Amino acid sequence: MADIAVIGAGYVGLTTGACLASLGHNVTIADIDEKKIQDLEAGKIPIFEPGLEELVSTAVSDNNLHFVVGARSASATAQFHFLCLPTPPKSDGTTDMQYFHAAIEEIREIIPPESIIVNKSTLPVGSASNIQNLLSRKDVEIVSNPEFLSEGNAVQDFLNPARIVVGAESDETATKVAALYSKIDTPIVLTDAASAELTKHTANAFLAMKLTFVNEIAALCELVGANITDVTKGIGLDPRIGSSYLQPGPGWGGSCFPKDSSSLVQTAKRVGFDFELLEKAIDRNQIHLERTAKKIMDELPDKNAHKDGKIAVLGLTFKAGTDDLRSSPSLAVIGYLLAEDVQVAGYDPMVFEAVEELEELDIASDSYQAALGADVLAILTEWEEFTDLDFGKIRDVMRQPVIVDARNLLRRRDMEDQGFRYIGIGQ
Ligand code: UDX
Repeated sequence: MADIAVIGAGYVGLTTGACLASLGHNVTIADIDEKKIQDLEAGKIPIFEPGLEELVSTAVSDNNLHFVVGARSASATAQFHFLCLPTPPKSDGTTDMQYFHAAIEEIREIIPPESIIVNKSTLPVGSASNIQNLLSRKDVEIVSNPEFLSEGNAVQDFLNPARIVVGAESDETATKVAALYSKIDTPIVLTDAASAELTKHTANAFLAMKLTFVNEIAALCELVGANITDVTKGIGLDPRIGSSYLQPGPGWGGSCFPKDSSSLVQTAKRVGFDFELLEKAIDRNQIHLERTAKKIMDELPDKNAHKDGKIAVLGLTFKAGTDDLRSSPSLAVIGYLLAEDVQVAGYDPMVFEAVEELEELDIASDSYQAALGADVLAILTEWEEFTDLDFGKIRDVMRQPVIVDARNLLRRRDMEDQGFRYIGIGQ
């Protein structure tokens, strides 16, 4: 079993650290945020991720998992240093590497000889090689071992992954990193660092493009009188296409797809390649978000008096099963609605406070309160609990019974039977 330092106790670092500890390794997770480390030591997990709290608590009581402030104390004795740091986008779409550079500066002189640095976060192609130069330690190799964790399913994704990708300059180093996962039964792709880095960006860009494509076909369905649910079922049964990631929505978002796809476009630009296809998929996603807002606005009774209109939004997080609001499609749509001066009340089972960037958005304590006096009820995140609402009660408290279901979560027939005008996506 290996001694592992995990630098960064964010969503990726905590999941990675806890899962590696559950595989039997001796893991120390470091963060610069003292309060976060204190909370973790007290058993408080700062993010909502199913299964993570239990995993952390078991690993801590097995003495396999420790928390410290500062990378140096974690890295001084470790054989592997997993960098799980933020990679925010800069205004031009490129990736801000400041956290990586700061961490390397901090640990470069103290990490033990022959130890291995593993980049877990999503980094642009060429980062491993740039960090290697910055490190200027011939005895320490940088490896790219990207995470493919989906929020709300991160622990499962880590312990039962579709694959593990390890990119290193030497086969020996790649094999050492792959061996950390020997208890996991899954295909392992051993490659060079640049290919591993590109694999991660390609996976996210491909999924984002797939979703843009589905949303385009959904728009087309509406114009030709076809139904997207049947169309995606019909194509999804073809194993060459596959049935997952075919659910249309208001547009895609989250902490990864928008930033990773823009970063790949910028990487391509840097090397003189015009990645028009991906750029268009990003632009079209923005159009789908606007289109969703327009669909909702079109249902307001008085087109000339938006101020008097009220819209209830169910779902604020970027998808169900998470409390994450980063680049949430729902918030983007609400932004368009608020810009039209309409009143918006939103409810989400995981959001309890005002949303910083949308001050005018009223946060309701439940779906019924949000729906009170509303002209339109818009479902923007696919929380299962919205299917169990008392729609008779919702209808009675609304000013007019109209539902715009941007996730196709509800059954049209049921809603029409309850007296609603029901507008889905691609139907
Ligand atoms: C994604 C990748 O799935 C993961 O492998 C990577 O490591 C990080 O980025 P995540 O950001 O958690 O994970 O979100 P994901 O579940 O992929 O959803 C992204 C967006 O696509 C959300 O806005 C979601 O609502 C939307 N989506 C997803 C759809 O609209 N339809 C679908 O069928 C699937």
